[in-house]
Amino acid sequence: MLSEKEVLAIRGRFPIFRRAIYLNSCSQGALSDSVEKSMLDLLEVWHREGSPWDLWIEQYEIARREFADLIGAEADEIAVLPSVSAGVSSLATALEFSKRETVLMGEFEFPTMGHIWLAQQQRGARIRFLQAEDGRIPAQKYAQNIDRNTLIVPVTGICFSNGFRSEIEEIIEAAHAHGSYVLLDDYQDCGTRQRDVKVLDVDFYAAGNLKYLLGAAGLAFLYIKKSLAQSLQPAVSGWFAQQSPFDFATQRFQPAISARRFESGTPPIPSIYLGLAGVRLLKEIGLAKIAEHVKRLTQELRRGADELGIVLKTPSNSVGPLTVLKCKDAAGLVKHLLQENVICSSRHDGLRISFHVYNTLDDVKTVLSSLEKHLDLVSLETQPTGTMM
Ligand SMILES: Cc1ncc(COP(=O)(O)O)c(C=O)c1O
Repeated sequence: MLSEKEVLAIRGRFPIFRRAIYLNSCSQGALSDSVEKSMLDLLEVWHREGSPWDLWIEQYEIARREFADLIGAEADEIAVLPSVSAGVSSLATALEFSKRETVLMGEFEFPTMGHIWLAQQQRGARIRFLQAEDGRIPAQKYAQNIDRNTLIVPVTGICFSNGFRSEIEEIIEAAHAHGSYVLLDDYQDCGTRQRDVKVLDVDFYAAGNLKYLLGAAGLAFLYIKKSLAQSLQPAVSGWFAQQSPFDFATQRFQPAISARRFESGTPPIPSIYLGLAGVRLLKEIGLAKIAEHVKRLTQELRRGADELGIVLKTPSNSVGPLTVLKCKDAAGLVKHLLQENVICSSRHDGLRISFHVYNTLDDVKTVLSSLEKHLDLVSLETQPTGTMM
């Protein structure tokens, strides 16, 4: 467990906390001194050398190794990408819908997941959405709906709009029992706990760097299980997807034998610099410690919100990082909180409060006391006693 002193030292590396309580890592991670410095390093070398491509390509390969290490994968199982959407789209084009046509996913997926697979309808895919029950999509519901026509089950680790944590292990087991693939979209959790794709035995895993990985927009990665990387050939490509990009062989199509075949053009070097610094900072702190800390803050927030009678959209067994409160006016509440220097975000009728290693129990107290002032904007379990007639 991180001590209060350690958390404060980490928090001191994120200048935003000098002026605000930042609770919006589910949208964008806060900017640290080391991530800022990495950008200055990039600019410095660019000024100095003009076109240091050897160095930049080295950084891109280092990023691949760091991402692999983060999730227990091997470097050649990782595609380094400008967005999760780019990686999942590439994967979708590599799948054949003739023998198995169904893509089965829950309504909790991030919109891009719906859009990418719906776009595959023109290639014969049949998309089925599972509806939630009481804010949850139990693994059992997946199990009841996966059959021998199910090609792939894309599943979000944490739902971006209500914080529900999918029962990944059970879903993977159910899918594999029918020979279906599972794609875990872990964007809303990666960076707040340890993950091991080999232990999970998941087929594909995607995450991006701008949220809990503390980097910036323009960087994401896709894990493709080694045994699948070579048998799947995307119908989109580019020179960085080739076995030897620097052969500059325009008339030869020879995809890399690794997950790199899911890439396309020039890697996003500035985002790689920022992303690498973010991942290194998290590893330095330790992901297991971060998970414990985030869990404690989440449970404290829940306890306080329960005391205020606020309806929570996030199921009660949540261990973080995202907690969502049901609101009458979530967008309005975000604006009120901002006036009090508390930065959160909203989706539909939910106020999203997310924690990372830099948040403290004092942040929890601050947001709870701000919420207490605006109980008219949240949904309450019961009407306040004064108004019950
Ligand atoms: C769970 C999840 N998946 C995917 C995305 C989108 O990723 P990208 O914009 O890199 O395609 C987001 C972004 O918020 C997300 O929260």
